[in-house]
Amino acid sequence: MRGAVRVPGDKSISHRAVMLGALASGDTCIENFLAGEDCLATVRCFRELGVEIAGPTGENTLFVRGRGPDALREPADVLDAANSGTTMRLLAGILAGLPFFSVLTGDPSLRRRPMRRVTGPLREMGARIWGRQGGEYAPLAVCGGGLHGICYTLPVASAQVKSAILLAGLLARGRTTVTEPMASRDHTERLLKYFGARLEIAGNTISLEGGQQLSGRSLKIPGDISSAAFFIVAGACTPDSDLIIRGVGINPTRSGIIDVLRKMGAELELLNEREMSGEPVADIRVKSSPLKGVVVAGDMIPRLLDEVPALAVAGAVASGETVIRDAAELKVKESNRLAVLTEELRKFNAAVEELPDGLVIRGGRPLRGAVCASHGDHRIAMAMAVAGLVARGKTVIKDAECVAVSFPGFFDVLNSLREK
Ligand code: S3P
Repeated sequence: MRGAVRVPGDKSISHRAVMLGALASGDTCIENFLAGEDCLATVRCFRELGVEIAGPTGENTLFVRGRGPDALREPADVLDAANSGTTMRLLAGILAGLPFFSVLTGDPSLRRRPMRRVTGPLREMGARIWGRQGGEYAPLAVCGGGLHGICYTLPVASAQVKSAILLAGLLARGRTTVTEPMASRDHTERLLKYFGARLEIAGNTISLEGGQQLSGRSLKIPGDISSAAFFIVAGACTPDSDLIIRGVGINPTRSGIIDVLRKMGAELELLNEREMSGEPVADIRVKSSPLKGVVVAGDMIPRLLDEVPALAVAGAVASGETVIRDAAELKVKESNRLAVLTEELRKFNAAVEELPDGLVIRGGRPLRGAVCASHGDHRIAMAMAVAGLVARGKTVIKDAECVAVSFPGFFDVLNSLREK
């Protein structure tokens, strides 16, 4: 694989830019917005809430006309977060703070994902919020307004839960303080500051005063490192490769995959390091190199949470054993990623064992092309594509169109590199 590519805008930041733009006063212009299914679901929900949003244009620019939180209106219908956990959880925090009734639902995968982690703390803030099984599963119904700030310690590191509470805290009376057991992605904190909010951050504790006004801002979104990860792993694992992925976000709460692949022996260079709207960015150069197994656990896990599917493929190619632990959260993502990776990578002749909180991969066995399934999970589909590239023989990925959730055009970008 040779050449240079760009990957679409960061998914987490794209969601947050729409949300903060909608709560702010004044216009927000978002360049390099991710026009993937997940972020388009966020756009549709905010349009239903009465926010004027134009785009995304052909160049992926989105305009949000912010008129402050008081301008958001009771939606006439159920809000649909589709496959997007970020939409549902962060929006639940915002809706809890707004004085009207709303209902949030999603696709069958999202309706199976745990929601008490947000409905619980939001109830502590005074929210009236309900869901199936005592608030654990969507659809969620919210009668918002009248919140007060709380001090809350998250039982698991989760950027979505942290963000839901901070956004509710912004709309609440008094001060809200959130403490995480380990640092999760900090895009909400960075973007809140970028939109003019004051936050106090000490270690893994973040605190903000309710009732702060945000001001609309223009911003440019970095390329998504979670999308770049598939190309980084493909470049490291396929012979004679030398490729550059341009303009990728390398926020330290997200860049664990770079550290771990380097530890495995990958030849990775960060070029042209710069800042983009409060986020660090670089071009990433990767060359093929022999990889060796690695142990990944503890506070590294939140730093590469969404990259485990790509990392598992690297582990299957590497010599020796790769062990991933402390990653039980992967069971409640878009699919049960521990079970699905075990099942699907075995079809490629990889030796994978599932642990209660991770995976053991005995690498170095020759991978054989396989007929495999995405289980409707975008990151599984892309990981299977990388496994298929490395494997000998033909691979067929069933239900591969779900890549559009985070990376529309993934297969075109992949082919553009193969044809050079
Ligand atoms: C996200 C947080 C992560 C990640 C997800 C996006 C976000 O989940 O897996 O894809 O945008 O906040 P957690 O809430 O488990 O950190």
